[in-house]
Amino acid sequence: MEEKREILIGVTAGIAAYKTCDLVSRLVKSGCGVSVVMTQNASNLVAPRTFQALTGRPVSVQMFQGGDAIPHIEPARNADLFCVAPATANFLGKAACGLADDLLSTLYLAFSGPVLLAPAMNCQMWEKPSVQRNVRQLMEDGVHFVGPESGHLACGEQGTGRMAEPEQIFKRIQELLLR
Ligand SMILES: Cc1cc2nc3c(=O)[nH]c(=O)nc-3n(C[C@H](O)[C@H](O)[C@H](O)COP(=O)(O)O)c2cc1C
Repeated sequence: MEEKREILIGVTAGIAAYKTCDLVSRLVKSGCGVSVVMTQNASNLVAPRTFQALTGRPVSVQMFQGGDAIPHIEPARNADLFCVAPATANFLGKAACGLADDLLSTLYLAFSGPVLLAPAMNCQMWEKPSVQRNVRQLMEDGVHFVGPESGHLACGEQGTGRMAEPEQIFKRIQELLLR
């Protein structure tokens, strides 16, 4: 029997976080074990309990709460792949610079396997030279990207910044797991 794959999903505070529920649901249905870590800000947009219900596992948000002795490392040890969807401009900046001021960004540093980022933001934010610089740095670091796509954005503008659709992210995860 094929070994069950473990996926670590990071959720940051973009409005597209609601679409990550669909992604998580697809992964669980496909037989993966899925653990979700959210930023504190993301927990204002989608309730951790939603991901808890979809995965059947507790959702981690805080570094210094909960019973785990080393919450900033343990989830990274067991995962085959780490996907952050949506990935905010803030997260891209922190990951590109090696900053670790919350549980999710610390886990990114503690994880040594393949990382897939699905950025989502307003088109002006995406085009900002500093954001593009961070994306280039992360690509150089070996991080994989899916999207963002062009189209209608939640802010009402048209442009590049839409998070890739859950189906597309799911396919990319499958491809990376086969490598
Ligand atoms: C309703 C709402 C939607 C937001 N959507 C995005 C977004 O899609 N992308 C982004 O980079 N920031 C977005 N922001 C701003 C981020 O939430 C903000 O930069 C925050 O500091 C990111 O925190 P995090 O990266 O720790 O989750 C949004 C803010 C609000 C209030």
